[in-house]
Amino acid sequence: MFISFEGTEGVGKSTLIQRLHDYFIGQGKHVVLTREPGGTPLAETIRNLLLAVNEQEQMCVDTELLLIYAARSQHLNQVILPALERGDVVLSDRFTDASFAYQVKGRGLSAEKLELLNQTFVPCMPDFTFWLDAPVEIGMARATARGELDRFEQEKLTFFERVRAGYAQLHQDAPQRIQKVDATQSAEHVFQQVIQLLSRK
Ligand code: TMP
Repeated sequence: MFISFEGTEGVGKSTLIQRLHDYFIGQGKHVVLTREPGGTPLAETIRNLLLAVNEQEQMCVDTELLLIYAARSQHLNQVILPALERGDVVLSDRFTDASFAYQVKGRGLSAEKLELLNQTFVPCMPDFTFWLDAPVEIGMARATARGELDRFEQEKLTFFERVRAGYAQLHQDAPQRIQKVDATQSAEHVFQQVIQLLSRK
């Protein structure tokens, strides 16, 4: 089983994923908890490049997309595909939906470019995706309270509004796979709702 978690900044993905990880472990399952961009030492190095604020040089949108897919390819081949082959549960903090929401809707990159990369480099999609949704102001307030903002977190609220609309579009197009969860609820409620949705599946 491959489950991904999506949403704009500060919606509580990490807390939820950690709780689900403990829940599955408690059920005697083998679980791989991972994230994108990242999930392997090389992919984490690419993540650092993507998140670093660089006052000297602006990262081109295509460069950003290609770095994300370089990291994703490494992550898929080193972590996700072997884990799925072993029959483990894979919990990934973000996957390809984030590229649609952030790069296509947020940055304005063409959907065709993304589609080409997905067709060429992504052999599997998550069985379920939980989209944790909250007004962007709430999420950004939480992200700001965490400390220094990374290159993405420094974007304007209007950027995150477009990202959120991107997730709404994905949810509308694939309502069976992508479940929307109200992330303004308490962490406990979010966790219980996700468990309920999973057991129904
Ligand atoms: P995180 O803060 O959820 O760990 O994600 C790091 C940032 O990377 C987040 O701001 C969203 C961004 N991102 C993309 O822009 N496209 C992608 O495909 C992925 C996986 C992440």
